[in-house]
Amino acid sequence: MKSNLQKIWKAAVVGGGAFGEAHLRTYASMPQVEVAGVFTLERERGDALCHQYGGTNYQNLEALAGDESLDLVSIVTPEDRHLEAFQVLAAAGKAIYVEKPLAADLTEARAILELSRGTIAMSGHCLRFEHRLAQIFEKLSGVPKHHLSFRDRRTRQEKDTYGRVHPAYAMLCHEIELSNAFAESSFDRVMALETRISEGQVDGMTILIEYANGVTSVVEGGWYLPRQTHCIENDFVSILSKHGIDEVTLPHLGYYHLGDAGLEIPNLSYGHRIYGVEYGPLRAALDYFIHCLSEQTAPEISTVQDAFNAVELIDAAIRSASGNCWVKRE
Ligand SMILES: NC(=O)c1ccc[n+]([C@@H]2O[C@H](COP(=O)([O-])OP(=O)(O)OC[C@H]3O[C@@H](n4cnc5c(N)ncnc54)[C@H](O)[C@@H]3O)[C@@H](O)[C@H]2O)c1
Repeated sequence: MKSNLQKIWKAAVVGGGAFGEAHLRTYASMPQVEVAGVFTLERERGDALCHQYGGTNYQNLEALAGDESLDLVSIVTPEDRHLEAFQVLAAAGKAIYVEKPLAADLTEARAILELSRGTIAMSGHCLRFEHRLAQIFEKLSGVPKHHLSFRDRRTRQEKDTYGRVHPAYAMLCHEIELSNAFAESSFDRVMALETRISEGQVDGMTILIEYANGVTSVVEGGWYLPRQTHCIENDFVSILSKHGIDEVTLPHLGYYHLGDAGLEIPNLSYGHRIYGVEYGPLRAALDYFIHCLSEQTAPEISTVQDAFNAVELIDAAIRSASGNCWVKRE
C-alpha cells in the first residue's frame, strides 16, 4: 500500500445512525482520509456528528453528491434504502462503499449491481476482513472444501431495530456471503426453515446450502440471545477442508470484565479502539477500498457482485421456507 500516500481522500457518509457513526469514527481514524461530512434525515443528529467528526452537515443527498471535492461515499442507510442513494451517487461519479445487505430484495440488488458497473464500488461485507477469517481465506484459497458451518446469534433487543427486515437480510447475509466465498462456487440449491419465538418479524433462520462444486454448508442464527448487554454475540464458523478443520468462535473468552452487573465479554475482534484510533474489520475494509481507489482498480474482495450473490441466495432461502421445498438457483 505505497501508492498515492500524499493524497488525502475526502469521504462522506449517507445515513447517520449507529453504523453511519462507526463509518465516521473509522474514517476519522485513518491518516489518509479527511471526513467531508454526512447527510442523514435528522438535522440535529447530523449537526452532532459533524461536531464530533468534522465536515459538513449536507442539507440533502443532492448537495452531498454535488460536492466535487468528495472522493468516496459510504451508504449506511437502512437495508431497504441503499438503492436510492446509490443511484444519485453513481450518477455523480462517486466511488461508493455500500453497506450490507446490498438491498432488501432481489430486484433492487440487481439494479445496484447494474449501476455499479459504471463506478468503483465495494460492498460492506467487512467480515471478509476480520483478522482470523482473513487468515483462513488466504490459507485455504483454492483448497477443496467439504463442509462449512456458520452460526450468528444476536440479542433480542437488536430485533427492535433490525427486525425492520427479515433476519436473513439483516444479519445472516454476513454468513451467507462468507459461505459463498469459502465455497468458491455458486449455490446449486437451498432448503430453509424459519424460527419464530416472538411477535412480528421472523426471529431466525436455518439454511442448508449445496454448492455447484459439491460443497455443503449450513447457516443458522437469529435474534435468539436474552435481552442483556453483557454477552451480545454467540457466533461460530467451521471450515472442513482437504487440509483439516479451521474454527472461529465469538465471543472471545480470553478477556472479560466482572463488575456489579455481572460478567461482561467485550468483542475485541470487531470495532475496537487503541488509544483513540479505530481498528477492526471495517477499518481494514475501508483501508483496502482506499488502496483500490489509489490504484484505480476494482475491489476483488467484498465486491458488489459478491453482495448480489448473497442476496440471490437469501431470496431463494426465503422462497424455500415459504414453499417448504428445496429451491434451485435460477
Ligand atoms: N457491516 C456491519 O457489520 C453492519 C453493522 C450494523 C449495521 N450495518 C448496516 O448499516 C446500515 C445502517 O444500519 P444502522 O445500524 O446504522 O441503522 P440505523 O437505523 O441506526 O441508522 C440508519 C440511519 O439512516 C438514516 N436514513 C434513513 N433513510 C435515509 C435516507 N434516505 N437518506 C439519508 N439518511 C437516511 C436514518 O435517519 C438513520 O440515521 C444497514 O444497512 C445495516 O444493515 C452493517
